[in-house]
Amino acid sequence: MRSLGWSLLANLVLVSSALGAVFTPGNWKNVESAPGNTVPNRYIVEVKTPSLIPGKRDLDPRAPHEELYSTLRGRDIGFRVNMEFNREGLFVGAVVTLSDPNDREVIADLPGVEAIRPVIRIPAPAPVDVHVVTGGHDPHIPPDTESTHIVTGVDKLHAQGVLGNGVKIGIIDTGIDYTHPSLGGAFGPGHKVIGGFDFVGDAYTGANTPIQDSDPLDQCNGHGTHVAGIIGADPGNMFNISGVAYKSSLSAYRVFGCSGSTTDDIIIAALLRGVSDGNDILTLSLGGTDGWTEGSASVVASRIAATGKIVTIAAGNDGAKGAWYTSSPGNAINAISVASTDNTVIALQNATVNGVQHDPITYFSTFPFVVPGPLPIYATNTNTSVVDDSCAPLPNNTPDLSPFLVVVRRGGCTFVQKLQNIADKGGKFFFIYDNGAGFAGINAGDFNATLIQAADGVFLVNQFAAGANITISFPQSGASTQFPDPDGGLISAFTSLGPSNDMFFKPAVAAPGGNILSTLPVPLGSFGVLSGTSMATPFMAGVSALLFEVKGKSEKVGLGARDLFETTAQKVPASHNNSDLLQSAAAQGAGLVDAFKAIHTDIIVSPGEFLLNDTAFFKKEHTFTVKNTGKKSRSFKVTHKPAGTMLTLQPGTPFPADQPVPLSTVSASVKLSMTTFTVEPGKSQKITAIFTPPSSSDVSPALLPVISGFIEITGTDKGASESFHVTYLGVAAKLRDANVVDMTDEFFGVNIPALGDSDGNFIFDARNFTFIAGDFPTLVLRLNFGTPLLRVDLVTPTVKLNSRDVVGRESLVLPDESDPQTYGKNKIVGNLLGFAFLPRNSDQDDGTGYEAFRIRNVFSNGTQVPNGNYRILLRALKVTGDPNKEEDFESWLSPIVGVDAPERN
Ligand SMILES: *[C@@H]1O[C@H](CO)[C@@H](O)[C@H](O)[C@H]1NC(C)=O
Ligand SMILES: *[C@@H]1O[C@H](CO)[C@@H](O)[C@H](O)[C@H]1NC(C)=O
Ligand SMILES: *[C@@H]1O[C@H](CO)[C@@H](O)[C@H](O)[C@H]1NC(C)=O
Ligand SMILES: *[C@@H]1O[C@H](CO)[C@@H](O)[C@H](O)[C@H]1NC(C)=O
Ligand SMILES: *[C@@H]1O[C@H](CO)[C@@H](O)[C@H](O)[C@H]1NC(C)=O
Ligand SMILES: *[C@@H]1O[C@H](CO)[C@@H](O)[C@H](O)[C@H]1NC(C)=O
Ligand SMILES: *[C@@H]1O[C@H](CO)[C@@H](O)[C@H](O)[C@H]1NC(C)=O
Ligand SMILES: *[C@@H]1O[C@H](CO)[C@@H](O)[C@H](O)[C@H]1NC(C)=O
Repeated sequence: MRSLGWSLLANLVLVSSALGAVFTPGNWKNVESAPGNTVPNRYIVEVKTPSLIPGKRDLDPRAPHEELYSTLRGRDIGFRVNMEFNREGLFVGAVVTLSDPNDREVIADLPGVEAIRPVIRIPAPAPVDVHVVTGGHDPHIPPDTESTHIVTGVDKLHAQGVLGNGVKIGIIDTGIDYTHPSLGGAFGPGHKVIGGFDFVGDAYTGANTPIQDSDPLDQCNGHGTHVAGIIGADPGNMFNISGVAYKSSLSAYRVFGCSGSTTDDIIIAALLRGVSDGNDILTLSLGGTDGWTEGSASVVASRIAATGKIVTIAAGNDGAKGAWYTSSPGNAINAISVASTDNTVIALQNATVNGVQHDPITYFSTFPFVVPGPLPIYATNTNTSVVDDSCAPLPNNTPDLSPFLVVVRRGGCTFVQKLQNIADKGGKFFFIYDNGAGFAGINAGDFNATLIQAADGVFLVNQFAAGANITISFPQSGASTQFPDPDGGLISAFTSLGPSNDMFFKPAVAAPGGNILSTLPVPLGSFGVLSGTSMATPFMAGVSALLFEVKGKSEKVGLGARDLFETTAQKVPASHNNSDLLQSAAAQGAGLVDAFKAIHTDIIVSPGEFLLNDTAFFKKEHTFTVKNTGKKSRSFKVTHKPAGTMLTLQPGTPFPADQPVPLSTVSASVKLSMTTFTVEPGKSQKITAIFTPPSSSDVSPALLPVISGFIEITGTDKGASESFHVTYLGVAAKLRDANVVDMTDEFFGVNIPALGDSDGNFIFDARNFTFIAGDFPTLVLRLNFGTPLLRVDLVTPTVKLNSRDVVGRESLVLPDESDPQTYGKNKIVGNLLGFAFLPRNSDQDDGTGYEAFRIRNVFSNGTQVPNGNYRILLRALKVTGDPNKEEDFESWLSPIVGVDAPERN
């Protein structure tokens, strides 16, 4: 179920599951009263703009802000203004830090306030693999550096001279090293990088104060420079690479410092600046786990896209964490969220076998292992079927292993545990042979260990068992091999998976993002290979520039771009073994972009997406239009090509399935209003599709099966067999039935939710707290699924839940029906905390695995909680649930919490 040892490099490596509780209790010390993905006490307040308020059109443009501040002062709300936004039609509001986070609820109810949203943390862009290339013969360079252009038809557009001329692209990232000769060498009008802004400064980490200046130079991070090269690198460099739209003009909006994270208020500032600077396209290779389309930066990006600008945003690199794990601002409803496909080859190293006749053994490493001379081998187990080789300490009679290359089977425990057991007997160099989990990079900690394929491992173990005189050597040059990437052309396993919790189609399309050579800052080596949806996203921005160049930079072209890219994309299979099973749209969107086809087709299909929603809100009927803008009559057939149905929960559990999320061939069925048609030049044909989800006896709704596929329109005229498609996405279950709050002991070894103290212990009995220094409770919980509303209330100690087993389906047994303080059907003493649109947690203990909220003795309206005995009632609204219905919440009740604070003066 859970996987350990996941690292940035090793997305494909899901180490065998561990036994017992995984998470370390006590890591919640020093928490705040806010979810882990937000900045405590900092909120983005959106205000209603004057143009929306009748009779107030003539107001000073600063008036909405001043009005907000004076209202806040009038309510005695302590606040500090961090930033103001003033772009009517897109976003008017302010970022405020509240002295008391509980004032959030008060502000939400103020007249003139459109919305108040938390400030969301956006982690540092994490490329999946980083390698600075050393020269023209570096083994890491993909053999055909323009292979990405070829698979997407960009090479054919370049051959026509379509290079992005006259199009302006704003890159919101870590800045750009414009001194790079391939990126123009200079900054300002007339150069490749024509402008931009630095919102943060080198020293910004996400936790300190950003320092702005007008120079977005990046010579310390490199991510934005790599992104810029994918769009804009000039040809003629030592690696012969070029950007997708290298004649376009770039602007750099720097939102990350040399290292560390940023926050979505800064991203909003950059988005608005990108618009006022006149960019045609904005591209963001960044994001943070969100799951909902409601985050501030998502909302602003979506509004910008709705004006006809093209906004491309990375889908995220959290594919390992399973479905329903989309990222913000990639969730922006109108933006193009971009998935990644893997390159077709990987540059690896060969080792030589001496003493017996055998082919070289390919090991998973970019560079040769630095090993002194040939090494004899030692196998820790001569039985190649044993599932937990070296997971326990090795026997006492094991010889000193320091002179050997130790051969060990994968599986049963983490790589590091296995290697440590061998290292305890002197082992220094290791070949781990695959057990069928997949040949890929592994996280072996500091050990000199690498993965080899199963057959090579079995061969070596058998030779050892037979007592053969065999050694292995590691040539330091000339042993680089182009290993066919078993996943080449497939959706990169690191691509974050949709759908969003509100059932939007994320990601939208895919572009090459795995193993991409591009520019790095000159001080960091000038060129490098990176992987991630961060690399796929600028590719789509470049393709968008080519579209604008050919079709003109009109609002209409911008608004139609996503449909065009989606309907002309190339469908991606789930694997190479069974190429009939198509990858889920929750991973590939509408498929791999075909730039040439999108830009030159004279058949226009729209829309590009059908959103079926869940079975409670199932939208079964959808219509699409096929327009013939060409000069010839065209005939087509219409067919249904289902994609694999993604079984997003682990059977028998409420836990999301990790990557690779299983696919089933059970699919939705479709009735089409016609299956063949002819459309004359200048005319359109409308076709209706009626969808029926698979029955619950074919695929259990308890697995939250995400259904998707393609309505394919294929030309039947001679010489015109091109096909187009509309992609659909839905879930064959009611999302309201999905369990939200983890009520198991799987992760901490004790049932959660639970209270913890500030020493890191769980509290199961009644206890008094003074709420001074460390003497307060912390609420520890996990969300198996996102929730639109999470409330933490105080109730009297006599309140009971009917039964813990049927939590969420039962209302409370209430002691006092006459109490006027109610929420839903329940009586409460008062509200402590409330959060809207929380994402689910992952199953990794990396800061995303659970939430811990510090409980204070203050109600959310700012009033002190009177001393006395209470219980804490946690309620999480189910997805699509009605906040006015008690039964649509899952609930948990704490042990008695005594508030025993000294009197306040
Ligand atoms: C470099 O690019 C040019 C133009 O794209 C091409 O003609 C040439 O073959 C490339 N050279 C190599 C070594 O790939
Ligand atoms: C590397 O080893 C593989 C497998 O034995 C072999 O097919 C390939 O030719 C080798 N490549 C080089 C450069 O030695
Ligand atoms: C090898 O290990 C497997 C799995 O533990 C076991 O079933 C099998 O009997 C073992 N074979 C020998 C020869 O010990
Ligand atoms: C790995 O190998 C290198 C080079 O031989 C050596 O310096 C280093 O100590 C080794 N690391 C470990 C953890 O054994
Ligand atoms: C093993 O092979 C090495 C060379 O590969 C040779 O020097 C050595 O004598 C051999 N040892 C035995 C016991 O055959
Ligand atoms: C699905 O239905 C829910 C409940 O009505 C709604 O909130 C959500 O926006 C819908 N999603 C889509 C993509 O239409
Ligand atoms: C909490 O404090 C009150 C008042 O001092 C006391 O009566 C009660 O026994 C205490 N409860 C616990 C669990 O210690
Ligand atoms: C704040 O909330 C508490 C609990 O609901 C209530 O008793 C109190 O009167 C409220 N205070 C104000 C100023 O509204």
